[in-house]
Amino acid sequence: MKRDSFSSRMGVLAAAAGSAIGLGNIWRFTYLMGDNGGAAFFIIYLASVILIGLPIMIAEFTIGRNTQKNPIGAFRSLVPKSAWPLTGWLGIIAAFSVLSFYGVVGGWTLYYLVRSISQSFLQFSPDQYATIFTNYIENPLIPILTQLIFMGLTFAIVVRGIQSGIEKYSKLLMPLLFLIVILIDIVALTMPGASEGLAFIFKPDWSKVDMNVIVMAVGQAFFSLSLGMGTMLTYASYIGKQQDLKKTALQVTVADTLVAVLAGVAIFPAVFSFNIDPTSGPGLVFITLPAVFGKMPFGQIVGPAFFLLLAIAALTSAISILEVLVAYFGEELKWGRKKATIISTVLLTLIGMIASLSNGIWNNDAFFGMNFMDFLGAFSSNYCLPIGGFFIAVFVGWRMKPEWSNQELLIGAKSARGNKLILWLLRTLVPAAIIVVFLSGIGVIG
Ligand code: PHE
Repeated sequence: MKRDSFSSRMGVLAAAAGSAIGLGNIWRFTYLMGDNGGAAFFIIYLASVILIGLPIMIAEFTIGRNTQKNPIGAFRSLVPKSAWPLTGWLGIIAAFSVLSFYGVVGGWTLYYLVRSISQSFLQFSPDQYATIFTNYIENPLIPILTQLIFMGLTFAIVVRGIQSGIEKYSKLLMPLLFLIVILIDIVALTMPGASEGLAFIFKPDWSKVDMNVIVMAVGQAFFSLSLGMGTMLTYASYIGKQQDLKKTALQVTVADTLVAVLAGVAIFPAVFSFNIDPTSGPGLVFITLPAVFGKMPFGQIVGPAFFLLLAIAALTSAISILEVLVAYFGEELKWGRKKATIISTVLLTLIGMIASLSNGIWNNDAFFGMNFMDFLGAFSSNYCLPIGGFFIAVFVGWRMKPEWSNQELLIGAKSARGNKLILWLLRTLVPAAIIVVFLSGIGVIG
């Protein structure tokens, strides 16, 4: 497979920000914030993004652009005959488990987009929305149908390659995403109870914070910034040598955080205005929000706009995960892009179908007390991504010769400012923090 590359700086930014900004920012971030005490969670999340996420993103960029390979090939070429390529393998496993359930939720966003367009959809009571949601996800057929459409769209973009697929559509969809979220924010901020919602996001209540909140915040930083799986590594393998990696990583991180905040501002003022409980978990955007749209000014427009926003965000992230697999199959097994994309999409869709059915007819708690769908989510974001991130940090911090990493960071950059600090963080704080968080996540400490 001939290597494609991004054609412009804007293209790189749109694609990488498109990967980072996804269901994680809108669906997952807001319900985690709702469940874990609002502002206090947000502040810990922010600290994790800056101190752990940003250095790891720079590390992934460094490895990717330096080797211009997929996650496994990259480690293999830097340190042949070592165990390091296992880090890449972990990324491939993570890509399978994230995208298979992500495709199901991506399908949910399309379903809600279509349903919210119909006038009558916004007139139910909160209880009825709960029933609508459960009936839908438990149905053996419809969620699979919507999943197929979502995966079909993901396929259609990735099969076109980097420049005419991923770059082109990210450049088109990301500005639209920003526009929609800002418009929704404007409506949300004019609601009567807006200030209470804003206080929830910005005024910390530290009494809610325990080790579990910290674990969730760090896991969310990985998930939201698309780290630990080799997604950013893969995208960076298509970045030209004239670009400043540190600057790009910083811009992507800022954009991702900004959208998480904007999503919070879109959701919580409305939630508080209508006296709805913010701690409604994963159902927050699918059960709580339709009820809110039904009551708010311009709800008929804001509702569909919100689900369109969600669908776009999901799509530009899904393509980045599929690309990890396509790059791997294409380069390591020497398949053409078309074959690699078809086979990956089919496999992901099949696993996703099982996940979807595990919400309904195949629902049992056989996977560590969870159904298959929840297990995929927990397994990837609580285990694969942080472990992958740990090894990526240790690799760039300790194993990759400083001359290589330093030099890679210097290429295209105006100065070496910050390089020492980044390397120091990758060597010490980042791995140490991941170990502590990981051990307390699995209940060994804390
Ligand atoms: N960052 C994406 C989101 O916020 C999800 C994702 C995770 C994408 C891991 C790629 C890799 O929804």
